[in-house]
Amino acid sequence: PLEGEMAGRPEGVGTTGRQPIRFFADGNFYTPDRKARFIPIRVSTDTRTTPDYPLILNTGRIRDHWHTMTRTGKSPRLSQHIAEPFVEIHPADAQHHGIGDADIVRLSSPRGAVLVRALITTRQRRGSVFAPMHWTDQFAAKGRLDALTAPLTDPVSGQPALKHVAVRIEKFAAAAFGFAVMRDRPETIAADYWAVARCKGGWRVELAVADENIDWAGFAQSLFGASPDVEMLAYHDRDAGQHRIAAFAGERLAGALFVAPGPVAVSRGWAAEQLDATHAGQRQRFRIVAGRAGADRPDIGAIVCSCLGIGANQIAAAVGAGCGTVEAIGEATRAGTNCGSCRAEIRAIIATGRVQAAE
Ligand code: FES
Repeated sequence: PLEGEMAGRPEGVGTTGRQPIRFFADGNFYTPDRKARFIPIRVSTDTRTTPDYPLILNTGRIRDHWHTMTRTGKSPRLSQHIAEPFVEIHPADAQHHGIGDADIVRLSSPRGAVLVRALITTRQRRGSVFAPMHWTDQFAAKGRLDALTAPLTDPVSGQPALKHVAVRIEKFAAAAFGFAVMRDRPETIAADYWAVARCKGGWRVELAVADENIDWAGFAQSLFGASPDVEMLAYHDRDAGQHRIAAFAGERLAGALFVAPGPVAVSRGWAAEQLDATHAGQRQRFRIVAGRAGADRPDIGAIVCSCLGIGANQIAAAVGAGCGTVEAIGEATRAGTNCGSCRAEIRAIIATGRVQAAE
């Protein structure tokens, strides 16, 4: 909606009192006779798919970030919803290319490549993929989407060709995946793939490496910062490729690293919360290394409502208890009752619950 005065606006566009009016809501365009003009266009061969680049990449935004995260990247609350760059791909395309959910994938165009997380979803249509444009070298190892896009603009409108890029997708051969939380942002992260995001109490990092021979204790020290006052607690199962390392400075957690041969199954919200908690006893410290909250602390799941910190598992539980509308979910959990931008996701969780109930 338009707010405030707009010099030279056509009649009927702008504001009337306190009621904003939308562009084109009255069916008129900004031409002398107020009618739209259709302009014949020629598709550039630079953006057409080929056998080498068979998928169409659409780039865009996600709900909680703005441009290149120069402001939203500083907010723990906004960064908790989606904390790394990703590509949405239809299940049939993922299967065709040998990609599993949460794999790291290389997306390449004739101009460059990025490494991002695979998100397999029927929201995406076959033959097309979607990736967000927010991640820069400041927040990810190789997440800059402008490395892929063609330096083309529409000759009439000047609009850059960001919505139609021919790409190919390949699984990145990760030998290990990692997830870490830490009080201070690490200076360097020696991983092929990494993405760093703010969280309450510090930072969180997703990572993956191709090298099978990483010294994970040394890696953890490089993430958390080497300090003589820090006490390390570690669990290593080299055969299973599982490593969990926690560092404590007094009663506070300085950092925790979880490593697995596949995508790491640790509750991100719970791990980030541990940075704000005190860990006086060995029992609490072992829980960190086990990567599990106590039985009295159920996992709330990935955050859906950033405003109120409500997770997917809490919303799913409310659906299971009989909440069948966004309003009912709001009453039961408060999710969706502030800015409202999570309401579409809440609706999707309700729909999934209905499908499961019908099966
Ligand atoms: S994200 Fe704002 S109300 Fe849920």
